[in-house]
Amino acid sequence: MSRFQILTAAEMEAARESGRILRSCLEEVSRRAVPGVTTGELDRIAEDFIRSHGGEPAFKGYHGYPASLCVSVNDECVHGIPGARIVKEGDVIGLDCGVFFGGICTDACRTVIAGDASPRAAELVAATSRALEDACAIIRSGIRVGDISSRVQHSVEGAGFKCVYALTGHGLGKTLHQYPDIPNVGEAHTGPMVPAYTLLAVEPITSMGSDAIREGDDGWTIHTRDGAVAAHFEHTVLVLPEGHEILA
Ligand code: MF3
Ligand code: CO
Repeated sequence: MSRFQILTAAEMEAARESGRILRSCLEEVSRRAVPGVTTGELDRIAEDFIRSHGGEPAFKGYHGYPASLCVSVNDECVHGIPGARIVKEGDVIGLDCGVFFGGICTDACRTVIAGDASPRAAELVAATSRALEDACAIIRSGIRVGDISSRVQHSVEGAGFKCVYALTGHGLGKTLHQYPDIPNVGEAHTGPMVPAYTLLAVEPITSMGSDAIREGDDGWTIHTRDGAVAAHFEHTVLVLPEGHEILA
């Protein structure tokens, strides 16, 4: 028995619509991530957007997570909780969000820079986005998870940055996190073989400094241990017999 969740045609349609809502939500939130806005306002914008388009925020209440959006600023890698924090010029902001529609979940993240970016931050963000696109480009049924991991790793390291190895992508579908883990480092031709009609969340998380992490006092936020700036991009990808669709 495969541990992958194979979607029906109707579930794939739901996944596409879930992804459309999530993509437009992230576009809207990215536009609003400018100096002066609070991270809590960005969360409210995301939640209102999702609900008004017929979706449900997938993160809210997930293992007790209190918001619809993760907003991870500068040294925060993932799972930053939005609140009173005011976005400043040059902040590097991960905007990670999930949507349920028709019983199917999609999960995606973009990192944006508020206002004027430092050249090094802009490089990290571009390299992380490129690593995600490089890795997703090879996805089709029959590839192995290590093929994806290896592409992410080589792309990020080739640009002179590090993957935060402890944080991985994952399968998803009727739930947000499921089999398999998709590490951001690994060897081609190893790991589980990916079947068609499944969803994968591929998500490189990178650092300008060391790849070591620490957990914040709120029990959610993951920081780089050395305080280095981190970036995070994530797509939900539908695996098909001859290729893939990027849903969000
Ligand atoms: N995209 C995040 C991940 O895959 C989802 C965060 S779940 C939350 O880890 F509960 F923290 F929101
Ligand atoms: Co994810």
